[in-house]
Amino acid sequence: MQTLVVVGAQWGDEGKGKIIDFFGNQVDVIIRYQGGHNAGHTVVIDDNKYILHLLPSGILRKDKINIIGNGVVVDPKALLDEIDGLKQKDIHPDNRLYISDRAHVIMPYHKIFDKMSENKKGIKKIGTTGRGIGPTYVDKIARIGIRVGDMLDKDLLYEKISENVREVNEIAAKSFDLPPLSANNIYNEYLEYGKKIKEYVCNTSYLINKLWEEKKKIMFEGAQGTLLDVDHGTYPFVTSSNSTTGGASTGSGLPPTKINGVAGVFKAYTTRVGSGPFPTELNDKIGEQLRDSGMEFGATTGRPRRCGWLDLVACKYAVMVNGINYICLTKLDVLNTLDYIYVCTAYKYKDRIIKEFPSDINVLKEVEPIYKEFKGWKKDISKIRNYNEFPIETKGYLDYIRKELNIDYAIISVGANRKDTLVINEIL
Ligand code: GDP
Ligand code: IMO
Ligand code: MG
Repeated sequence: MQTLVVVGAQWGDEGKGKIIDFFGNQVDVIIRYQGGHNAGHTVVIDDNKYILHLLPSGILRKDKINIIGNGVVVDPKALLDEIDGLKQKDIHPDNRLYISDRAHVIMPYHKIFDKMSENKKGIKKIGTTGRGIGPTYVDKIARIGIRVGDMLDKDLLYEKISENVREVNEIAAKSFDLPPLSANNIYNEYLEYGKKIKEYVCNTSYLINKLWEEKKKIMFEGAQGTLLDVDHGTYPFVTSSNSTTGGASTGSGLPPTKINGVAGVFKAYTTRVGSGPFPTELNDKIGEQLRDSGMEFGATTGRPRRCGWLDLVACKYAVMVNGINYICLTKLDVLNTLDYIYVCTAYKYKDRIIKEFPSDINVLKEVEPIYKEFKGWKKDISKIRNYNEFPIETKGYLDYIRKELNIDYAIISVGANRKDTLVINEIL
């Protein structure tokens, strides 16, 4: 297939970075289409660990083209810091990184509003990453946002920043009792960023379609996960963009008719960072065990991730709304030491059994998972590279997931490293 979307099938941190990096040698172009530096995508190559936030994970492969599409929100300082960090590791994005002039820019006031609105919500807070993501998308939809291209036009930038900061200062004083921000300072800072990122900025919609016409292989890198999607996720405990497959088109300018397939990244259990309902969450020793063995701490904020069993109701929903054709299953090795493993097959709500993922979080909060029990394999599977060598119990777990999701595996991952990977079906 020429064009593949890789999406997270749960609440993020499924191991998308690892999978994108793994597929990276088979494609020419890697595109981020939504989110911003709220993402933390980890890639481990031999003894080197990289955490990418805003740059596509394809940047680590030296001959690949990497694109930040129009659907992404860009914090220019975070971007420049990330580029500098990679340059120090001898990875140079010049001449192969492109940023959409239509992507929206995260401004200092977006970060302030993100944190202030969380504080105001108290126990109802979303638990955002505090990166200013939500308020930036709010301005985009309200049609007052500042776009990457605007940073290259000093008069337009000045006009937009002055207008926005005037409004921002009114709200900041009224709602948050904050001192006013200086439009001039922000302008000077962002004008400098504009000069530094200018070389990367272009109309990426034309670039992407041209690369497609040239028969280049293209991979979209989803950030966050299906259940954090602003439309399809556990609203309002979601991020502010469309992390599902549909976002790949709107966030890049490559139409759906030019997209051929979707790989879903599923963790062999479930994690979530931040607030919101999580039916299979384990607030017990097993949950702690999963957190310890899986090293489940946020790649962006360092927060401990909430852990629980695999939820097939949610996974089937993810297959449906994304049109997932292949499973990339990660972190199977994390289950190595468990005596028993459970998989949620349906929910009990009041006296009813439900198999559809509810749109109402008040229902989701109340559901009781119905579990199927699997005996653990109690062996280290991290060195296995051939499906047939998996213990019978592991195969039982894998076969059940495949049958329930009704799609085949592309990849099974048994360790964080690039080499800890089994290819079950070649899909690119
Ligand atoms: P992403 O946001 O979806 O890219 O995922 P993160 O990088 O935030 O979190 C996934 C974590 O699991 C990272 O620390 C990865 O290095 C690690 N990881 C990925 N695949 C595997 C795997 O198969 N086994 C183990 N043990 N760790 C993995
Ligand atoms: P990757 O791409 C896990 C969560 C936050 C919070 C909610 C809203 O690494 O999988 P935001 O800052 O986006 O407004 O926060 O979304 N969240 C993530 N959780 N992985 C991520 O990214 C996330 N990006 C945002 O914790 O609950
Ligand atoms: Mg992550």
